[in-house]
Amino acid sequence: MSEESSGNIRKVEVVPSPALFPVYFENPNCIVVVIDVFRATSAICAAFESGIESLIPVATMDEAIAYKEKGFLVGAERNAEIVPGFDFGNSPLGFKDGQFKGETLVLTTTNGTKAVEVAKPASKVVIGAFTNFSAVCEYIEKEDKDVLLLCAGWKGRFNLEDTLFAGAVVKKISQNLRFTDLSDSSIAARQMYASAEGDLFGFLGESSHRKRLSRMNMEEDIIYCLTLDQSNIVPVLKGDKIWSDQSL
Ligand code: MLT
Repeated sequence: MSEESSGNIRKVEVVPSPALFPVYFENPNCIVVVIDVFRATSAICAAFESGIESLIPVATMDEAIAYKEKGFLVGAERNAEIVPGFDFGNSPLGFKDGQFKGETLVLTTTNGTKAVEVAKPASKVVIGAFTNFSAVCEYIEKEDKDVLLLCAGWKGRFNLEDTLFAGAVVKKISQNLRFTDLSDSSIAARQMYASAEGDLFGFLGESSHRKRLSRMNMEEDIIYCLTLDQSNIVPVLKGDKIWSDQSL
């Protein structure tokens, strides 16, 4: 497989769900942006912004339990709720006070940390959310590789909020002529974002996870997750741990 796209123009593809990652993953020397707007990747960005040193994402409860038994601080969320017995969940607002400053945290979530696991074969994996939107776009442009925007979705299914964020990234980076080899999924996501960008909150009114979080009184989390550029940090996977790009 060639490392380059034709004429150094980079491919930009939106992967609508982790189940489709094997279909889109053709060039191992690509950058994958893992996206779980509600709420895993927004929470990971908030954790770094609050000063954690690193974060170990794990896909399964068994791995989370094993880390807990070894004495790690472990967060676990399933179906938007904190799993009883763990130290924290998946709310980005839980990291605001810097209570885990300098710590290495372990986190498992319903979809987001599974998507990170799926992306591991790529040469570069980073964490994206509306909250670090501009920093992620700049990082992608500096890396100058083919781009896969991997939407975590919900249990293998497509969702609106992750695709919207992917569309925002496509819109921004395709203004740079090097990032203009767009897949149909990228064009569709960009078009969707164009319809929504004036009112992300309203556009997502009928979306399944926004409704799920609203039923659980998590409106503040939703507003936080849809607020752009609250962090300049790009969390980057290195080995099994995620680090701030500013510490690498
Ligand atoms: C996930 O990883 O599936 C989500 O972050 C779920 C949630 O909102 O807690």
